[in-house]
Amino acid sequence: MGSGIAHVAAAAGLSVVVVDVGSGPLEKSRATIDRNLEREVAKGKRTTEEKRAALGRLDFSSERSKLARSDIVIEAVIEDEALKSQAFAELDSLLPPASILASNTSSISITRLAAATKRPDRCIGMHFMNPVPVMGLVEIIRGIATSDATAQAVEALAKRFGKTPISCNDYPGFVSNRVLMPMINEAIETLREGVAAREAIDGIMKLGMNHPMGPLELADFIGLDTCLAILRVLHEGFGDPKYRPSPLLVRMVDAGWLGRKSGKGFYEYAGK
Ligand code: 3HC
Repeated sequence: MGSGIAHVAAAAGLSVVVVDVGSGPLEKSRATIDRNLEREVAKGKRTTEEKRAALGRLDFSSERSKLARSDIVIEAVIEDEALKSQAFAELDSLLPPASILASNTSSISITRLAAATKRPDRCIGMHFMNPVPVMGLVEIIRGIATSDATAQAVEALAKRFGKTPISCNDYPGFVSNRVLMPMINEAIETLREGVAAREAIDGIMKLGMNHPMGPLELADFIGLDTCLAILRVLHEGFGDPKYRPSPLLVRMVDAGWLGRKSGKGFYEYAGK
């Protein structure tokens, strides 16, 4: 997700610093952005010169201090509240007072992340969809203290990225995952109960509802660990058993079957 966000920001003409924990992830990020910009060149959406210029606006670093002059930081660490809060607290002490701290979290409370900083009015959710260069939406999540000026600034930024911002308030799962994850969870329960085979469940939802991917295929695409983390946020946040993660999903994550990224989820992915 971080690579996709850096891709659209650099392509929109912004200078971007990509920070990750070491040279391995940074190299992978650079290669992913290069490959996806090349896809756009091949489709005639971008010229080779525009690709070169976008790559030239990207600076990859493992030094968080490189972010110290940023107008906005979009945090995209894994879906772990303790890690995200820690990142917010550290960035708060590093950034100029006027800078905005945005999180690409898919479900964690923006209000609680903002409470780890001294700038809760300048904290906000910018939830991009996967694959970022392709999907049109940025879900903008206003925490309880987010100011109008911050919301307007990130909406303008999302538009500059060529996306459509749509706003909502800060409740577990926001809108996107509150609606999407129960569907995915129910598809997993349908599989667990033997109602239909994986291909049948996905085929019915693809052909019947005009979804580009079936729910099991989509779960593999998102990452089963991420789906489980989001369902747990919904389950704990609302205290409602309707959000209970499917025991099959829990078992698969326990086994390390995380979907596409691990080579195995509901489907098998060769070459991983
Ligand atoms: N990165 C960049 N571009 C990609 C890409 C990737 N990983 N995968 C595909 N593309 C581009 C292709 O270049 C192509 O571009 P074009 O339209 O200009 O020709 C376009 O996407 C369509 O690709 P393909 O024709 O190769 O493949 P498909 O038609 O199968 O589309 C898909 C692939 C766009 C991923 C489509 O299957 C899809 O829309 N799937 C659903 C995605 C979705 O629901 N995302 C949201 C997930 S939820 C989320 O992100 C929130 C989180 O909190 C969980």
